[in-house]
Amino acid sequence: MKLVIVPANPAAPHFAGEVSGIDLTQPLAPQQISAIEAAMARFAVLAFRNQVLTDDQQIAFTRYFGPLEQATGDIVQGEARRLPMALNDISNLDREGNIRARDDRARLFGLGNRLWHSDSSFKTIPARFSLLSARQIPGQGGNTEFGDMRAAWDTLDRATQGEIRGLITHHSQLYSRELLGFPFTDAEREQWAPVRQRLVRRHAETGRLSLYLSAHIGQIEGMPTPEARALLRDLTEHATQRERTHAHVWQQHDLVMWDNRITMHRARPFPADQVRDMRRTTIEDEAPSLQQGG
Ligand code: OGA
Ligand code: MN
Repeated sequence: MKLVIVPANPAAPHFAGEVSGIDLTQPLAPQQISAIEAAMARFAVLAFRNQVLTDDQQIAFTRYFGPLEQATGDIVQGEARRLPMALNDISNLDREGNIRARDDRARLFGLGNRLWHSDSSFKTIPARFSLLSARQIPGQGGNTEFGDMRAAWDTLDRATQGEIRGLITHHSQLYSRELLGFPFTDAEREQWAPVRQRLVRRHAETGRLSLYLSAHIGQIEGMPTPEARALLRDLTEHATQRERTHAHVWQQHDLVMWDNRITMHRARPFPADQVRDMRRTTIEDEAPSLQQGG
């Protein structure tokens, strides 16, 4: 089998690739891993079709790219969890495998994924890569969209670039869910105190600058809140213009991998009475964005 990596959309060859000629259930050779790393640095998003993975196989593949993050950002913890802590549960199922009710708290929390975001930007050390495996998909809807934050930075006007270059943002799941009116408990409020990140960051592998945006941002240091939020809305709107986004249309057993340092993503709606079972493994970044040079 020969590893082949091509643009997912030949008309937009710089963002999102498709990988074939690899079986992710098997141990991989160092050359295969470095080819995937290089393709990630180029495309930022990679899709692997037809990878029938167990949880352990997904975890084993993920570990080639760095330390595994634990699912401490999930709202469902302890006994109530359906999946081990190495996996983020991106499904609409409960522990027994039943579809969650419309007003189920975990389902409503999960709707936060419909907002453009970068994974775990609310953690001091945020996510490097995310790997999402489609175990069961609905009959319609449920695409995942990705935005290229390098292109978003490159296409900003000079004046705006200069104004925002050194800004520090505050990220919390409280801010993203507040946008949807999600009711948190006092304990959750304490647990998800905001963390600081750069608004503009440099990508370690390519040296390119990118906009580090996320629905989890609620404040910009030194800026009045309404002004900060108005600016964040403008930047997000700019960053997610159609020509800088890619929609992944899922097939069962796809695995999609993205670089959270240079992309945002969001889930699209699907019928509430159909199963969507997606499982995400996540690689931690090497250091807080504040320590990575701007
Ligand atoms: C995620 C996520 C989007 C989707 O897994 O981090 O945001 O379409 N998923 O489920
Ligand atoms: Mn996500």
